[in-house]
Amino acid sequence: MKRGRFITFEGGEGGGKSTQLRRLAERLGDAGHDVIATREPGGSPGAEAIRALLVQGEADRWSPVTETLLMYAARRDHIERVIAPGLARGAWVLCDRYADSTRAYQGAGGGTDPALIAALEAHVLAGVTPDLTLILDLPPEVGLARAAARAGAETRFESKGLAFHTKLREGFLGIAAAEPNRCEIIDATAPLEAVEAAVWAAARRRLGLSDHG
Ligand code: TMP
Repeated sequence: MKRGRFITFEGGEGGGKSTQLRRLAERLGDAGHDVIATREPGGSPGAEAIRALLVQGEADRWSPVTETLLMYAARRDHIERVIAPGLARGAWVLCDRYADSTRAYQGAGGGTDPALIAALEAHVLAGVTPDLTLILDLPPEVGLARAAARAGAETRFESKGLAFHTKLREGFLGIAAAEPNRCEIIDATAPLEAVEAAVWAAARRRLGLSDHG
C-alpha cells in the first residue's frame, strides 16, 4: 500500500524541470525526508534501455501509438522496481515526467486516441498516481530555444516542430484545468529562483509542509 508522497514535474521542452526537481529534492532531503529523485522515460535499468529507443533518432522513427506503448512498457518497469517500492517504504518520490507527458506528447501532440491512453492508465499505473503535479509552463518558442542551446543526443521530440509543441502545451494546460486538485501551473519564464520559490510554495501549501519542510 502506498504510504509516501508522489510528486511529478511536467511541461514542454526547456522549462527547467530537472533543475527544479533537484532543488526540491535537496530541500526535502535537508528537512529529513527520505527522497527518491527519478525520471521518465527511464528511472530503472530496463526503462532506461527503452528510453534510448524513444529519445534518439528521426522524429518519425515511431508512430504515436507505438511511442505510447513503449512509454507504458518503460513506465510499468519503473513503477514496479522504483516508484511503488519507494512509496511503500514511505519515501517522497519526485519524478521528472510521468503519465501526463504521454497524454500531452502522444495524445494532444501526436493524436493517439485518448481512449487508448485512458485504458493504459487504468490497467498499467496500478493506482500509482501523483499527489501533486507541477506543470512548468512556457511558450514553446522560448522552451525550444533553451533546449536547443543545451542540445545533446536526445533531440528526437524537440525536432517535431512548433505546431506539435504548441499542441502539447495546450494539452498540459488542459490537464491542469481538468484536475486542479492535483495540478499546479508554474510560470517557467520567471527567473530560476522565482520558479524555485513557486515550486516550494506549491509543495508546502498542497502537501501540508511547514516552512522548513
Ligand atoms: P526529457 O527531455 O524531459 O528527459 O524527456 C524526454 C523526452 O520524452 C521529452 O522530449 C518528452 C518525451 N516524453 C514523451 O513524449 N512521453 C512521455 O510519456 C514521457 C515520459 C516523455
